[in-house]
Amino acid sequence: MLRISDFVLRIYYLGALLIKIRTDHPAGIKTDLLVLVACEDQAAYLDPQLQELADRAHDWPEFAGKSGDELLIYEPQGVKSKRVLVLGVGKADSADREELRKAAGRAVNRVLKSSLTSLLFCIPEFKNENIDRRAAAEAMMEGAVLANYRFDLYKKEKRHKPIKTILFYADADFAGRARRLAEHAEIVCTGTLLARDWVSMPPNDKRPARFARSIAKAAEKEPLETVVLDTGDLKKNRMHAMMAVSAGSSSRPQMVVLDHRPREYDKTVVLVGKGVTFDAGGINLKPAGSMESMKQDMAGAAAVAAALISAARAGYGQRLVGVIPLVENMPSGSACRPGDIVKTASGKTVEIGNTDAEGRMILADGLHYAISQYNPDMIIDMATLTGSCVVALGENIAGVFSTDEALAGQIVVSGGKTHERCWSMPMPEDYRELLKSDFADIKNVGKNRYAGAIAAALFLSEFTGKTPWAHIDIAGPAYGSGGSDYCQPGGTGFGVRLLVDVIENL
Ligand code: BES
Ligand code: ZN
Ligand code: ZN
Repeated sequence: MLRISDFVLRIYYLGALLIKIRTDHPAGIKTDLLVLVACEDQAAYLDPQLQELADRAHDWPEFAGKSGDELLIYEPQGVKSKRVLVLGVGKADSADREELRKAAGRAVNRVLKSSLTSLLFCIPEFKNENIDRRAAAEAMMEGAVLANYRFDLYKKEKRHKPIKTILFYADADFAGRARRLAEHAEIVCTGTLLARDWVSMPPNDKRPARFARSIAKAAEKEPLETVVLDTGDLKKNRMHAMMAVSAGSSSRPQMVVLDHRPREYDKTVVLVGKGVTFDAGGINLKPAGSMESMKQDMAGAAAVAAALISAARAGYGQRLVGVIPLVENMPSGSACRPGDIVKTASGKTVEIGNTDAEGRMILADGLHYAISQYNPDMIIDMATLTGSCVVALGENIAGVFSTDEALAGQIVVSGGKTHERCWSMPMPEDYRELLKSDFADIKNVGKNRYAGAIAAALFLSEFTGKTPWAHIDIAGPAYGSGGSDYCQPGGTGFGVRLLVDVIENL
């Protein structure tokens, strides 16, 4: 068994010093790899010496500057680096943040694969409205930090040797800003890596009490107050929906509350994250194929906790609270049954139609607690809530359900910027019909198998009252098979960069 301290903040602190800004010209810096980008049609650098270097790639017929093109030049003339890597990013007009994140990720993967140790990035400047020098720097820094990670905690032989320092060149004009961007990118991306660690962690090592301690440990050094509610506290607060879901498990349910409270603030935002440390389905047991990856069912909790930690560390100026219900959903003689009726913390009764629709139960208590305790100006929940959302939007896009158009709009915009993409979904009032129960106030599943993600969102809205609220269903993008340039198989950390960007822009 691993001790909590073995894994928490392993990367978090390591990452803190990863990026260094150099202001002397790249031609004179000795590194294993000097990295430049090139477009298909236009120059990417204003500095003539850098553009001349990037242009050398175009001398080779195999390099056109298309997205994904790569050319490695050994012992390049006129520069001190041993190699120059030129990465194609397509047409200058269409180059965007994600193109640069991927390019930086590819460079880092190449360094990791060939056991090189040093690399230096040159930040491009496109004549393009989508992306200025600042955005380009930020995106490349993100791609580089995120690619420098593998989840190898459970491997005896650690083959992954993370790069210790990643250099970025910025001229004297841009250096101050580049340093601030680097600091911010590292804070947010190490949050993403922390969430990846948590999601990839096997379910036997993150049962609720242990996961709660691990979050508390990670929050310890930040301007955050942490409270962990144990079974007794949950009972006192009448959170019977949470109790019902965890009744089949031998692990006690927990609720972690993280509170970032600046001395002065004018807004309170609460984030709520679904933390089912393993979702077997309960008495409505999942089939083997669907159960295998259900350690990911706490990805909402991981994203919320890591976003809180990142935002607090970055010095966010508003009050920010994370409410994180943690349970394990297991079948047993003491488990709740289909047909059971439970009274949620809000007083509303719920008939359990299916014990596998457990996420909305614990969120019902979490949302009620958040609103009754903190009276927030805004509440956002994040959850691996429904397979139906994955059917609708696929594995790479999250669904956004909101009673507040402006909030939904901001989430979609932040999703585009961070490439943690979100699509706004409807919550038609007449679909509430689906959740009618003959015996209780509401049922936890719809009458038929259609519109499952919408039915789940409508269920949650029963517990949010008049508070502006958005629900983000991340069942698709929370966990991946690693088909990306800066994300390996396992937890993706989806939602951390998104949430931080959303709250920074509220
Ligand atoms: N944790 C699952 C949803 C899920 C599916 C997450 C795939 C990640 C990937 C959730 O608790 C669940 O089982 N939902 C059911 C609801 C149904 C019983 C109404 C579903 O979506 O099938
Ligand atoms: Zn379930
Ligand atoms: Zn679940």
